[in-house]
Amino acid sequence: MKEVVAILRRQKVADTRQALADIGYPGCTLLSVHGRGKQGGIGGILGEIDPEMQKFLSPEEYLFKMDFIPKRMYTLVVPDEAVPKVVQTIIQTNQTGNIGDGKIFVLPTDDATTVRTGKTGDKAL
Ligand SMILES: Nc1ncnc2c1ncn2[C@@H]1O[C@H](COP(=O)(O)OP(=O)(O)OP(=O)(O)O)[C@@H](O)[C@H]1O
Ligand SMILES: [Mg+2]
Repeated sequence: MKEVVAILRRQKVADTRQALADIGYPGCTLLSVHGRGKQGGIGGILGEIDPEMQKFLSPEEYLFKMDFIPKRMYTLVVPDEAVPKVVQTIIQTNQTGNIGDGKIFVLPTDDATTVRTGKTGDKAL
């Protein structure tokens, strides 16, 4: 099994969740993160800065915050054979062609256990 870790635009999470559920992968973990890619955060779309946060920042702090763009880390663990389909679905849902569309990492995962049933491995997913 593999963990697919996708760093996405915040406004793309709902569509991503729906698209992955539609192909049979409803389970996920969502984290709020700040990140920077090739552009080092600069070049991020201004609209991506949380408007609530902007109100409390001085210009200097605002520029500093631009160094790290708010993103969502969307992770799910899936059987090995599901990885291409899951990655393709995330691309289809998130690709706009603009910088900052996101990044997908695929990580090895040793095992999984469902606490309620004690099932392990792919049966736990
Ligand atoms: N090498 C990396 N390691 C860990 N996280 C990364 C890495 N590159 C990007 N990220 C994360 O992914 C997010 C989105 O990255 P982004 O889409 O800007 O990638 P990019 O490589 O700069 O591509 P693009 O040129 O299309 O913007 C970043 O804000 C950061 O959280
Ligand atoms: Mg980038």
